[in-house]
Amino acid sequence: MTVPPQQRIKIAVQKSGRLTDNSLHLMETCGLVYSRGRDQLICFGENMPVDVLLVRDDDIPELVAEGICDLGIVGMNVFREKVADGMDVRPELELDFGRCRLSIGVPRGFDYRSPQSLEGLRIATTYPRILQDWLDTQQVNAEIVMLSGAVEIAPRLGRADVICDLVSTGSTLLANDLVEAEVVFESMAALISSNGGPAEGWPARLVSRMRGVLSVRESKYIMLHAPRSALAEIRRLLPGSESPTVMPLEGRDDKVAVHAVCRENVFWETLEGLKAAGASSMLVLPVEKMLA
Ligand code: PRP
Ligand code: ZN
Repeated sequence: MTVPPQQRIKIAVQKSGRLTDNSLHLMETCGLVYSRGRDQLICFGENMPVDVLLVRDDDIPELVAEGICDLGIVGMNVFREKVADGMDVRPELELDFGRCRLSIGVPRGFDYRSPQSLEGLRIATTYPRILQDWLDTQQVNAEIVMLSGAVEIAPRLGRADVICDLVSTGSTLLANDLVEAEVVFESMAALISSNGGPAEGWPARLVSRMRGVLSVRESKYIMLHAPRSALAEIRRLLPGSESPTVMPLEGRDDKVAVHAVCRENVFWETLEGLKAAGASSMLVLPVEKMLA
């Protein structure tokens, strides 16, 4: 059955940038098979009535607030700036990618000591609301120079003294002879919806699948053999697992097999601890899908 275009749900993601690949990959992990249009602006869902719109990240909150898109994936930096500006959107899920920071960058050689060093200066940024809030809490008066791009060259052009911009690897700052002086806001990607929340049907279904994908990424299935006498200690050592399955081992009264889903990463240190407690034959397997 073909779904009419107006009933297909739309998800807005960043067209080209730090969130694009991870956002599309997340949609694929949620089961979406799509074909990318020739104009590269829409990914048409082939197996679900879901389309992915590739747009400028700054436009995503508005598309969601106005109901043109049902959901959006955007950096918390953009989200917070737009909400401070009165946009009616809410975060649905924090995602596990797109980490970066909104930081004050000063020219090399600038004698930065504390936020008070910014008193009376001109600060170039694309995030005037977040910056103003931060300046207010620091009780610093500075002039905000709003730029929509190329913030990092503002000091060289004499348009500002310092900048407040996103930093992830730091290579943009380095290339422009700027030094990170202060973190104003820590950001990561988030799934956002309009303030009424995701509508029933496909939007809600996708949110629940995404939640499942996120919890699975950390989760591991662990199997081991343990002396019956060490069971309590071993259960204590299993990270983030509720009630493990305990099974008898054929021909052994002193030992049991333990299977558990661990909702946190299982590190070598954990296995070493389990071994010291008497566990043996340990296997750690990735979990592919999970639905609570
Ligand atoms: C940000 C920022 C810098 C760059 C910093 O731009 O404006 O240009 O990333 O990253 P780096 O520390 O790894 O060099 P972004 O990619 O978010 O583009 P946009 O502001 O145009 O959305
Ligand atoms: Zn942007």
